[in-house]
Amino acid sequence: KKELLWASRFNEPFDEGALKFSSSVHVDGKLFREDIQGSIAHATMLGEEGIITREDARQITTGLNEIEKEIESGTLVPQWEDEDIHTVIENRLKEKIGAVAGKLHSGRSRNDQVATDTRLYMRAKVNELHTSLTGLMETLVERADTYQSSIIFGYTHLQRAQPISAGHYYLAYFNMFRRDRQRLSDLMQRVNISPLGAAAFAGSTLPLNAERSAELLGFNSIFSNSIDAVSDRDILIEFISACSIIMMHLSRFCEDIILWSSYEFGYLEISDAFSTGSSIMPQKKNADIAELIRGKTGRVYGDLMAMLTIMKGLPLSYNRDMQEDKQPLFDSAETAISSVTLFNRMLQHTRLKEDRLKELTAKDLSLATEIAEYLVKKDIPFRDAHRITGRIVSWSIEHSTPLPDIPLDTYKGFSEVFDEGIYLALTPEASINSKKSHGSCSFESVERQIEEARELLG
Ligand code: ARG
Repeated sequence: KKELLWASRFNEPFDEGALKFSSSVHVDGKLFREDIQGSIAHATMLGEEGIITREDARQITTGLNEIEKEIESGTLVPQWEDEDIHTVIENRLKEKIGAVAGKLHSGRSRNDQVATDTRLYMRAKVNELHTSLTGLMETLVERADTYQSSIIFGYTHLQRAQPISAGHYYLAYFNMFRRDRQRLSDLMQRVNISPLGAAAFAGSTLPLNAERSAELLGFNSIFSNSIDAVSDRDILIEFISACSIIMMHLSRFCEDIILWSSYEFGYLEISDAFSTGSSIMPQKKNADIAELIRGKTGRVYGDLMAMLTIMKGLPLSYNRDMQEDKQPLFDSAETAISSVTLFNRMLQHTRLKEDRLKELTAKDLSLATEIAEYLVKKDIPFRDAHRITGRIVSWSIEHSTPLPDIPLDTYKGFSEVFDEGIYLALTPEASINSKKSHGSCSFESVERQIEEARELLG
């Protein structure tokens, strides 16, 4: 039987089923490095402040460093009987250095310990996610550059709306992921605060130096209120919500990729390296990676809902419910990082079928807005121009004649202001280039956007 950290006041042993149920080693075992790092900082501070001797602090630190190697190499396998990773490490330390190990927990509770570990984990993951988003943003600028003069349909309601530069499309996503990255930088300010030194929730009678342990752990600042330090998980909710928004953006992007790679659209081709086939239909080429990312989005949303629900209605301060925070945290962090990373690679191995897009956009009804704006330039009120163009569209469909092929006489029948100039307006290139407004899809605007994006990425 392993020794539990809290059992001395009990006369009966903890029920085995209850222990198995409450053990979190299988989840928080992942935090062993953070836990050891936090403990070393705490022990160092205790030694410096004379709360324990420097020799004790040295022994504790040496022992902890060895334990880290033992877990890394697999010589020490955390067991569920130890309740949580904090206990695994403390029990092992006791085996190694004896009673001195018991001094490590001076002025510390597992409540501020676990909050510290979680923040250290989050800090690393926020940075990783930030870096992977930067990689994706770089790919998007590259693609915008490569495909800036390629023309694709812009859609609203999944109906062809107006032709646009493909670069403009990629830059739209660039901006979304840019905001996602900003969200991470912003929440990092709140993640990077040390809760160590809050003890169980009320502080300690020992002269702890929370500033010092925070400094050793590279935190920017320390908690202001010891209850708050151990009992909120709002930054975790913020992080999972940032992950959810990232996943939502990826999922929409995936949806376009899945549709566009279908035979019916045929706008793009994902390379074989990122496609799957069928075990029965030999011709199949499926966009499984995009579908998986779209699917995993649902899981991350679930993590967010789980966390919000776990915290709802918890009385202050610490409650054991909060142990359930790690699974959603780890899951959403890892899912978001791997999704961004893999999506980025898949995107790099996806090409637009420019010839087909050129053919499809050349004479499409999506040029109709050009006719309306042509009429506006001839001083026709836009509402009238819209009505006239609508009739032309209907004529075009009825006579199976694309807009650029309608004879001038017919155009004149709809309005006497039409002249040869209408045919110059009725190409996708002209449509795109004639856009004058800020941040539009014109080739010039796209070029400017690419420059700005490059500047931003440095
Ligand atoms: N395993 C616990 C957790 O992850 C550690 C804190 C335990 N504290 C307590 N008061 N039981 O939340």
